[in-house]
Amino acid sequence: MPPARRPVVLSLGGSVLLTGEGDEEYLRKLTMLLREAGAKRPLAVVVGGGRTARDYIHLGRSLGLNEIELDELGIVVTRLHAQLIASLLAPDAPPHPPRGVAEAVAEVGRWPVVVMGGTEPGHTTDAVAALLAERIRAERMVNATRTAGVYDKDPRKFPDAKRLPLLLMPVFRDMVMEGTQGLAGQEFPFDRLGVERLSRARIPLAVVDGRDLPQLRGAIEGRAFQGTLVQPSRE
Ligand code: UTP
Repeated sequence: MPPARRPVVLSLGGSVLLTGEGDEEYLRKLTMLLREAGAKRPLAVVVGGGRTARDYIHLGRSLGLNEIELDELGIVVTRLHAQLIASLLAPDAPPHPPRGVAEAVAEVGRWPVVVMGGTEPGHTTDAVAALLAERIRAERMVNATRTAGVYDKDPRKFPDAKRLPLLLMPVFRDMVMEGTQGLAGQEFPFDRLGVERLSRARIPLAVVDGRDLPQLRGAIEGRAFQGTLVQPSRE
């Protein structure tokens, strides 16, 4: 028997799922891709909250909710999105997404795909994905976002921003630490706890445009892709 293939963890940004343009067709094709990838190796997908989460967080913040309460609003939205993807994947994913990392660990390998949302306040679904990746000794983590990788500056603000195809984890870690403040609904494409966990576990991270399905497939399957590959440091 060939050795079992190691799992891959995909952090699927909520902003990738719902854009208001072609979402139905995208979700159909994404479901097919996840099913096919999950048939080849165990796949865990952690789904984000996107604009819907941020809308609730902005509203809650203007009404005076505190950071924990705002995070909890975000978590509910990530779980709503996870429920949508899990239902689309039936019967290849648990019908009720796990609510914690330990629960998800028990399901990975028993189903082709395991889908979940956020867990507890204080981080984002990228951190959940990294914690899960460390636990299940994932071969790699893929971060599917709305930009085609990591750039030297914010590509939405600077048209001359350049994509960085290859980065070492300590450099990426510094970029995340500079770009985030750890507040609910943050906009930077990665999270502090997530980068700490990936560094410690020496798990590579592929950052790719989640709407570009051929590139997303390449990143999940460990082939060449257009995006950014963050490699563990050499020492
Ligand atoms: P996301 O993981 O979607 O954050 O969680 P994000 O990076 O801002 O968004 P996208 O989806 O990649 O565009 C949304 C919010 O929910 C809370 C945080 O406030 C986060 O910003 N959250 C999420 C938690 O507090 N804990 C979790 O485990 C997950």
